Amino acid sequence: MPNETHARNLSLDTSRCLSTAVHEHGLDPDLLAPNGPAAKAAAALTERLESTRGTGWERWRLLAEGPMREDHVKGVKAIAEKYAGMLDNVVVLGIGGSALGNIALQSALNPLTHNLKGDRTNPRLFVLDNADPVPFHETMSLITSEDPKFDRTLFVVISKSGETAETAAQFLIVRDILQKARGDGHADRLIAVTDPEKGTMRRLCDAAGYATLPVPEGVGGRFSALSPVGLISGALCGIDIDELLDGAAAMEQACRSGDLHGNPAALLATVLVELGQRQGKTVHVMMPYANQLYLMADWWRQLWAESLGKIVRGVQGVTYAGFTPVKALGATDQHSQVQLYREGPNDKAIIFLEVEKFSSDVTIPAGLGEDALAYLEGSSLAKLLSAEKKATEFALTESRRPNLTIRFPEVTPHTVGQFMMLWQVATAYAGLMLGVDAYDQPAVELGKKATFALMGKPGFEELAARLKM
Ligand code: PA5
Repeated sequence: MPNETHARNLSLDTSRCLSTAVHEHGLDPDLLAPNGPAAKAAAALTERLESTRGTGWERWRLLAEGPMREDHVKGVKAIAEKYAGMLDNVVVLGIGGSALGNIALQSALNPLTHNLKGDRTNPRLFVLDNADPVPFHETMSLITSEDPKFDRTLFVVISKSGETAETAAQFLIVRDILQKARGDGHADRLIAVTDPEKGTMRRLCDAAGYATLPVPEGVGGRFSALSPVGLISGALCGIDIDELLDGAAAMEQACRSGDLHGNPAALLATVLVELGQRQGKTVHVMMPYANQLYLMADWWRQLWAESLGKIVRGVQGVTYAGFTPVKALGATDQHSQVQLYREGPNDKAIIFLEVEKFSSDVTIPAGLGEDALAYLEGSSLAKLLSAEKKATEFALTESRRPNLTIRFPEVTPHTVGQFMMLWQVATAYAGLMLGVDAYDQPAVELGKKATFALMGKPGFEELAARLKM
């Protein structure tokens, strides 16, 4: 993977997706050989992606470098510095691509106990990404009980359009609460990440004087985690966004290579798409052996599902592209899902996420004197977890279940930036391989419109009548 200090980089092992490992359920190694058909196809796609890189809906490829990065980091840091030491709580209001990156970054890069710590060097982060009244009410009750005037709380509303019903509803409620608590001076407790020029949220922010950061043009929700959409909560809560973007930039460069085996995104997309199309492995299970990467799998699920799950209308008629992304946690789900993965339908590719060095480890004490447990004594939890990953990989391979591993030397902002960029570029490749537009989501619209109709939004009366039939 990216060619700098090896120890800092992710690595990708796809050898257990080949027929040499999983027999008739794997890919022919000749397909992936340096001059083989997949390598040639990937080289052609690399050329195509080079010609569109940084344009149209592929502007996200420039998020980690050059003027766009400089602009974003400057704006984000100015806000983080303004509020430094002043906050106990950051509350993000957003949904889908406007929330999942925040959640993934926080859970990967801040401790599990971040929100529980008494010391508030870095504020707690709450991401309210649903219209569910219970978490909303509970979070607001907790905050108001501790900070009734919101002196130490900042709300960050993230919505490119400003018209997403769930976020808009939460925004209206929070704005009202803030106004009642702080009067006209409430504007400094709410910032927005939204379209820099147009849209409902932009208009509201301009009118109310809320500070804003941009969701840049050409960067769709699920490709926006490395823009101010994901950076602002990270920077406010103590994540090193420079390292995150450095990692992303290094990966992005590596993913421009025309050599299939030197381009991790091309290789990842090729293996998964070929396994899907040739071997019917259309369920993709991401299984981190690290709790801190578990919610990263939620971010990935949206990227992979919403980008690739599309109708393809070709000369042969209609086909349905896409893969079903599933998340599982190692070793926990060995005791829940692995029975299915080994003996159920052989329709899955398992994507292990492995960590070589954890930020902490715990030694298992010796001295109990119980023979049955002696093998654990003097070992450590990290060693056990690592053995469990290798054991599951072995067991799946024995059952001819293709699996691959993305290995983190450590979970750091650098490797997490690499990981996010890797999947974003892999998604761009996979979209081209499947013949779909990876950047639209037409099938989401009908449900949104039906919600508008059911909620009485003007202009949706006809649909409301149909819904009532
Ligand atoms: O990936 C996407 O485009 C979606 O998940 C959007 O991010 C989500 O619908 C929220 O949209 P908005 O940011 O306009 O509120």
